[in-house]
Amino acid sequence: MIRCISCGAEYDLNEIIYNCKECGSVLEVEPLRPDVSKDVFECRKSTMWKYKEFMPVDESKIVSLQEGGTPFCKCQKLGDKLGVDLYVKVEGSNPTGSFKDRGMSIGITKATELGVSTVGCASTGNTSASLAAYAARAGMKCIVLLPSGKVALGKLAQAMFHGAKVISIKGNFDEALEAVTGLALEGKLYLLNSINPFRLEGQKSIGFEIVDDLGWKSPDRIILPVGNAGNISAIWKGVKEFHEAGFIKDLPRMTGIQAEGAAPIAHAVRDKKKEIVPVENPETVATAIRIGAPVSATKALRAIYESDGLAETVTDDEILSAQKLLARTEGIGVEPASAASIAGLKKLVETGSIDKGEQVVCVVTGHLLKDPNTAINACEKPVEVEADINALSRIISSK
Ligand code: F0G
Repeated sequence: MIRCISCGAEYDLNEIIYNCKECGSVLEVEPLRPDVSKDVFECRKSTMWKYKEFMPVDESKIVSLQEGGTPFCKCQKLGDKLGVDLYVKVEGSNPTGSFKDRGMSIGITKATELGVSTVGCASTGNTSASLAAYAARAGMKCIVLLPSGKVALGKLAQAMFHGAKVISIKGNFDEALEAVTGLALEGKLYLLNSINPFRLEGQKSIGFEIVDDLGWKSPDRIILPVGNAGNISAIWKGVKEFHEAGFIKDLPRMTGIQAEGAAPIAHAVRDKKKEIVPVENPETVATAIRIGAPVSATKALRAIYESDGLAETVTDDEILSAQKLLARTEGIGVEPASAASIAGLKKLVETGSIDKGEQVVCVVTGHLLKDPNTAINACEKPVEVEADINALSRIISSK
C-alpha cells in the first residue's frame, strides 16, 4: 500500500502517483513488516538487496548493479580531533559514485514491473547520473533536466555518456523539478525523483546497513547533508523498520546539515516550525544541495523532530575545509555536499549541541571525482620540472 503521510489516504502499490489526490501531500510506502529473523541476512552478498524482504518490489524483476554494501569506516584520527566516536558511511563507493544508486535500483525495478518505457528526473547531477545508468541497464529511454551551468562535470559526463537525453534548463533545480513533474503528470515519463516513494525504499537501506555494520546497534546519531530531503527521510524510515522488527533496541538522532545559502529545513528547525519557507535563489558551492524548496521537507522535519535530532547550516568555506580535512586525515575523498556532514559535525561539537564521546555516523553521499573542478581549484598547481634527479631532489626536500 502507498499511504499519504498527512491525511492517510491509501493507494495501490501499482498506481502511478506522486502526490496525494485528496490533500496534495507526499506519499510513502507502507512498511512490509516481513516475519523474518535477522539471521536470514547473514550469508548473503553485501548489497542493498541483502534486505530484500523489506523491499516492496517483485524479486524476479530486480535491476541491479550491486549497489549498497558500501564501506563503513571507523575514523579514529578525525574522531579524536573532533571528540566523538566517528564512523563514515562512504556512499561514493556505489556503482555511479553516489547513494542515488540505491534509490534508482529499486525505482527502475518498479518501472520494469509497471512496464514503463520512458523515465525521467530533474537533478543537481547525481540523480541524473544514476538514473541514466540504470535506465540503460533496463533498456529504457531516459530524460534528465539539469539546471544550466550548475551541475558538476563528473555527473554531467555520466548522464551524457550513459545515453540520457540531457536537457539544460534556464533556471534552478526547483524549477526543473516542477517542469519534469508536469511532464510526468501528463504521462510523458515515469518520474524518478525522490517524490516517487519507491526511491526512498532503496535509500532506507543506508539505515539498514549502518545498524548491521555496528553489530545490530543504533549509533547515537546519524548526520547527513540535506538537499531535496529524501535521504534523511529514507534513512529514518529504514532504522524505524528495523527497530519495529526488533533488530535494534534504540534509534539514532537524525541530524541534517544544509548549506547556508540553501537552508529552508535548518531554518524551520531553528524556528521550531513544521513547514518550511522556500528559499527563492538558493546558492552554494555544494551544487548537489543547491535546492530552495525540498519536496520531502515535511518527511525530513518529521524525522528530525521524532528522533529528537538537529539541523544546522554550514558556510561554503566550512564545507570546503571539511572536505579537505576528511581527505587528508582519513583518505576519504568526497564531493562538497557530502562534506557538509563533517562540517556540520564539527560545528555542532564546537557549539556543544553534540556531546563529546557520542557515537556518530556521518553519511558521505558522493565521490570526490563527481566534482573535479572544485577539487582542483582547492589545491596548488603541481610544479613542472624536467625528469632530472637533482631538480626533483630539490623539490621534494623543499617545504
Ligand atoms: N549529497 C549528494 C552528493 C547529493 O547528490 C544530494 C542530492 C544530497 C546529498 C541530498 O540528498 O536530496 O535526498 O536530501 N542530490 C539530488 C540530485 C538532488 O539531483 O542528484 P537529498
